[in-house]
Amino acid sequence: MSYLKAAEDFYKEMAEAPEKGLCCTTSPVWKLPDLRVPPKMLEMNYGCGTTVHPRDLDDGMKILYAGIGGGMELLQFAYFLREKGAVIGVDAVPEMIRAAKENFLEAERLNPWFRHDFVRLEMGNTLSLPLHDGTVDLAAQNCLFNILKEDDLRKALAEMYRVLKPRGKLALSDPIAPGKIPGHLRENERLRAMCLSGALTYDRYLQLLVETGFGTIEVRARRPYRILDKKRYGVEKDVLLESIEVAAVKDPIPADGPCVFTGRSAIYFGEEKFFDDRKGHVLSRDMPFSVCDKTAKALKSLGRADIHVTGPTFFYDGGGCC
Ligand SMILES: C[S@@+](CC[C@H](N)C(=O)[O-])C[C@H]1O[C@@H](n2cnc3c(N)ncnc32)[C@H](O)[C@@H]1O
Repeated sequence: MSYLKAAEDFYKEMAEAPEKGLCCTTSPVWKLPDLRVPPKMLEMNYGCGTTVHPRDLDDGMKILYAGIGGGMELLQFAYFLREKGAVIGVDAVPEMIRAAKENFLEAERLNPWFRHDFVRLEMGNTLSLPLHDGTVDLAAQNCLFNILKEDDLRKALAEMYRVLKPRGKLALSDPIAPGKIPGHLRENERLRAMCLSGALTYDRYLQLLVETGFGTIEVRARRPYRILDKKRYGVEKDVLLESIEVAAVKDPIPADGPCVFTGRSAIYFGEEKFFDDRKGHVLSRDMPFSVCDKTAKALKSLGRADIHVTGPTFFYDGGGCC
């Protein structure tokens, strides 16, 4: 049996008998005015962060969500868009689609503003999406891609890239690992399906996004996720997995490399009113200016005593140099 089939079987189980806390983290679920998440939908929150960032959203957008779980993030997206068919959910597990459909009907009973047809659910595989090229503004997945082995992950990323419109955004949330996870865990299909052993390193995760063609990457959150401990997982020393939230924008990769925002700022505090690096970056005196890693490196290399460049916070939330 392939590991993908094992993952589908696992999520058939998780649809029929939800396991609370399967992938969850310390990040609280969005609380929004007039949004009531059905209890079963909440139990089926199998994500390790959030892909719902109101700043990404606008009227009339079309959103694709791959790997729907109980549908909670789709409901959250629908909360902002409130339009028939604006959110399209794709999942490979019929039982998950059935469970999510029931959850949306319950959501309709609990939320006067919500209609179940705001969300369209389709059977489909993230490796071959049932959507036309360049048709969605925002694509999202939460805790599905870490289950995929690297060749399949490349395909899944290429699919997301294909269906996005130019300048469209891919929002992701997944576990990451500090180094390569030992083979006996990576090959354990159940642990992989449980989002415990398929994680890539931070660098590799970002590199695959860039190799797919995304020109701008935003690292929006990075937080503790799980410990793979010596006793239960047979590792040499305990491994801290983190979860990461990233957005990747389908814009061209600049000639000097992608713009990767990790929450760094540059602050100019010199004699003049501003500092102009003559490469398109103007720093007003005393104002923190968000910079991508590339610009941070370039500004640091100037060796100026009146420019301070901060390290990454991994909590980037907008603005900046590119
Ligand atoms: C870890 S859960 C995440 C669910 C949801 N994103 C959330 O945050 O609650 C993975 C989801 O992906 C679905 N899935 C598994 N394999 C898939 C595949 N090859 N293509 C599409 N969906 C898949 C599962 O049925 C499940 O809904």
